[in-house]
Amino acid sequence: MAVTIKNAEQLDKMRVAGKLAAQVLGMIEPYVVPGVTTDELDRRCHQYITEVQGAIPAPLNYKGFPRSVCTSVNNVVCHGIPGPKVLKKGDILNIDVTVIKDGFHGDTSRMFHIGEVGVLAKRLCVVARDALCVGIDLARPGTKLGEIGRAVQKHVEAQGFSVVRDYCGHGIGEVFHEDPQVLHYYDPSRGMGLELAPGMTFTIEPMVNAGGYLVRLLPDGWTVVTKDRSLSAQWEHTLAITDTGVEVLTRRPEENW
Ligand code: MF3
Ligand code: CO
Ligand code: CO
Repeated sequence: MAVTIKNAEQLDKMRVAGKLAAQVLGMIEPYVVPGVTTDELDRRCHQYITEVQGAIPAPLNYKGFPRSVCTSVNNVVCHGIPGPKVLKKGDILNIDVTVIKDGFHGDTSRMFHIGEVGVLAKRLCVVARDALCVGIDLARPGTKLGEIGRAVQKHVEAQGFSVVRDYCGHGIGEVFHEDPQVLHYYDPSRGMGLELAPGMTFTIEPMVNAGGYLVRLLPDGWTVVTKDRSLSAQWEHTLAITDTGVEVLTRRPEENW
């Protein structure tokens, strides 16, 4: 599958979808508190996306995924399925939101602390966020994807943490997951890879583990956990490469870029 280059009209639609996805994370923040279930967070996101935004929650029924957002708690790396689990003080949670508006996708996720969390959990969330920022700072025409993966990996490993290998960022547009694959580590066997050019839209979404990088898929077929049961954190943005640099399509108001 080839890498698609979006034209001005398509980029406008990506901007709209990206902004909506970001707004879902803003909307849900006050509800992410001790005692809430991940099912309740999913229901609130679903209702907001469908009724307020007039958009479609992309995960729902995607390859059989049963809910509208992913909720990944503590040692869950990604693709956690919302359910009756009650969040408690000290947990860390990733909510991953993808909306479809006017045929285009916006995909973004962030970590939340449930009440006061421990020092390791806090540091892990910061390092994962900084890893995403390191990637975004390199995204511009002429950069090769391998440079992004290498820099993200270097940042994470310098802090004593590890980068998940089995899941990666991805091209995005009218298709949820399209080429290119955006690795968050450097794989010498693949070389430096694709050179970025204006009109490319893709995600960066490093999953950072407090222990080793190996993961395990639970029998539900979706939930990915760390093999050594260590904590995991992830932040994600959808980006567009412009003529001069990068636009963070899923930027929230509190973010700089
Ligand atoms: N939003 C995830 C990503 O960043 C994909 C979730 S697929 C699902 O690519 F089916 F688990 F929802
Ligand atoms: Co994604
Ligand atoms: Co996502």
